Amino acid sequence: MNNIFLGIDVGGSGIKGAPVDLELGDFERDRLRIPTPSKSTPKNVAAVIGEIIDQYADVIGDNPVGIAIPGPVVHGRIDFMANLDQKWVGLQADQYFEDKLGRQIVLVNDADAAGLAEVHFGAAKDHPGLVILTTLGTGIGAAIIYRGVLIPNAELGHLELNGFDAEKRAASSIKDREGLSYKEWATERLQPYYSHVEMLFSPDLFVVGGGVSKDWDKWGDLLDLKTPMTPALLRNKAGIIGAALAAKDAVEHPDVLSPVEHDDQ
Ligand code: BGC
Repeated sequence: MNNIFLGIDVGGSGIKGAPVDLELGDFERDRLRIPTPSKSTPKNVAAVIGEIIDQYADVIGDNPVGIAIPGPVVHGRIDFMANLDQKWVGLQADQYFEDKLGRQIVLVNDADAAGLAEVHFGAAKDHPGLVILTTLGTGIGAAIIYRGVLIPNAELGHLELNGFDAEKRAASSIKDREGLSYKEWATERLQPYYSHVEMLFSPDLFVVGGGVSKDWDKWGDLLDLKTPMTPALLRNKAGIIGAALAAKDAVEHPDVLSPVEHDDQ
């Protein structure tokens, strides 16, 4: 097996993929981005993924392909989908993609993928404690990682806060939609959200990913939390790199039910 794994990140607006050199924790070639089909059914998404695989087939050999999905992935099955077509719900998606694409596929939640990537190569590299990564984008994704081991499928974006689904108040897409300033968004929306997560989990570190983390300077200091918070380092590479890590983990630990352990566990 070579150490180059293709990671693909399925998002609400784009499907992005690149072969990842997992020795270096970086792309082996430039990434390819194709807009998510407006009807984002598994069938239409699989067609786009097929195009991305074709593009890089020469570098990845027989390695499984890792795909990050914006919903919880329970042993390859999707039972809840907030921001893609509802045809995903009830789908044994790993089997479905393997049948369509003719190769081994490993699925992982997108925020879990980003969390794995940040713990292996980024802002929380080798962190010895409890890290919670959140991604702020169309929705809010979350990954809980304790001493390098991921506790998969934490749907902390859907905590109910003041009677609302938290991501419908605090995601960066809501900031844009409602035209909130950074200050309004940070103090009125993010502050209660992170205070609540902090109270529930007592993490050692928050890492914040998603496109808006690049504007960290504009809002990071406005939050008042006990827990240190740092922007993600890998930015929009994290989902792809984490999906590739999950694919490698599946090869190395074929009997493990769901992702993913740290290298030295
Ligand atoms: C989904 C999560 C996902 C997050 C970010 C949420 O709506 O339920 O599974 O990680 O969006 O895409």
